[in-house]
Amino acid sequence: MLHNILYAQSGGVTAVINASACGVIETAARHPTHFGKVYAARDGILGVLREELYDLSREDPAELAALRHTPGGAFGSCRADLGTPESHPEQYDRLIEVLRAHDIGTFIYNGGGGSMLTAAKIAHFARDQGLDLTVIGIPKTIDNDLPQTDTSPGFGSAAKYIATSVREVSRDLSAMAGTSTKVFILEVMGRHAGWLAAAAGLAFEMEDPPLLLLFAEVPFNEETFSKALQDSVQRHGWCIVVVAEGLLCAGGVFCAQAQQSGVFGHEQLGGLAPQLAGLSRRLGYKTHWAVSDYFQRSARHLASRVDVDQAYACGAEAVTYALKGKTDVMIAIRRTSDEPYLWTLEGVPLDDVADIELPVPRTFIRTDGYGITEAARRYLLPLIQGEDIPPFRDGLPVFAALKLNLVERKLPLWTGSLA
Ligand code: F6P
Repeated sequence: MLHNILYAQSGGVTAVINASACGVIETAARHPTHFGKVYAARDGILGVLREELYDLSREDPAELAALRHTPGGAFGSCRADLGTPESHPEQYDRLIEVLRAHDIGTFIYNGGGGSMLTAAKIAHFARDQGLDLTVIGIPKTIDNDLPQTDTSPGFGSAAKYIATSVREVSRDLSAMAGTSTKVFILEVMGRHAGWLAAAAGLAFEMEDPPLLLLFAEVPFNEETFSKALQDSVQRHGWCIVVVAEGLLCAGGVFCAQAQQSGVFGHEQLGGLAPQLAGLSRRLGYKTHWAVSDYFQRSARHLASRVDVDQAYACGAEAVTYALKGKTDVMIAIRRTSDEPYLWTLEGVPLDDVADIELPVPRTFIRTDGYGITEAARRYLLPLIQGEDIPPFRDGLPVFAALKLNLVERKLPLWTGSLA
């Protein structure tokens, strides 16, 4: 009898996570003698525990193919993690019950560092219990902070959106600066890492652009920043500031900590741009600000072709690994050349990526702390290459329309909860 595949999405979604789903589904379909059905859990690991599984064999293949150009998480995602088998044995008992009830032989978890930890916990538990379960991780995060992989699908598209937006806004600012706005501040995501702020550095090719980047890796100093801003406005007439949401102030605390959410131990960040705008106004500059927020995570209209290809390929490779019976790995992207950008895929142990955050290296940050180096440019540029425009109808993008039929329950309702 053939075993089924269970796929789930986890953490903050991206413009291309559904392309990975598409890679999983279409590759599994090409191996009907190896796999039974592909199920997708609703809302990540929560859907597994709640036995809320979508049966993708009942979907129109054309709509499944459209996942490749559909942003967001088609099956729902979650910010929730399992406890340990020691602290929460009931979660693992339930997990095994659900996997057995639906004859799951392969579990594929698509997410960032926290999600890889969840996958690793499941893989360890399965091994300890002698269960025949293949566990594969697919990388995903716009933050680009997963180790062991050249990049994480989702980042290239967010980076392209940010660099493009900064380049576009520079035209607006240079037109207005003579008599009006002189400073524009953009806040980007990235939690503890400044990869997306670094991506903004691609907007300009000149050596000394009217651009100041505030990295999560470089502690903020109001005095030196104010001086750098004044210098830039004096020299260029205007300045764009791109600030990473994870910017740290004195004592290593987040400069802007909006509220505690307590999941994955993550605080919800955001709110720096208006604060910096206040500082800029006090220096006498008319200032506009924006927070790119979910726009940067979902801007599928400007996705990087490389990013889409890598997202799909990681999904496809996860199934290939399962075919070969390889387990406990995350599919990682290995760069073999910068120019042309060449890459291959390989499995790295889940334990080597679980819950580890990769910061922007110092060699990528200009010595004054406010820009990127040539090495950073060499690394970043290949990731934003090419466009992959989704189909448009009536002037708007068209996305996958799935029926999302839930598999019939076989077990009693789950009444537990997750941290
Ligand atoms: O997925 C990572 C991320 O995009 C971070 O950059 C950001 O801080 C966070 O997600 C926001 O997540 P949420 O949607 O859960 O508030």
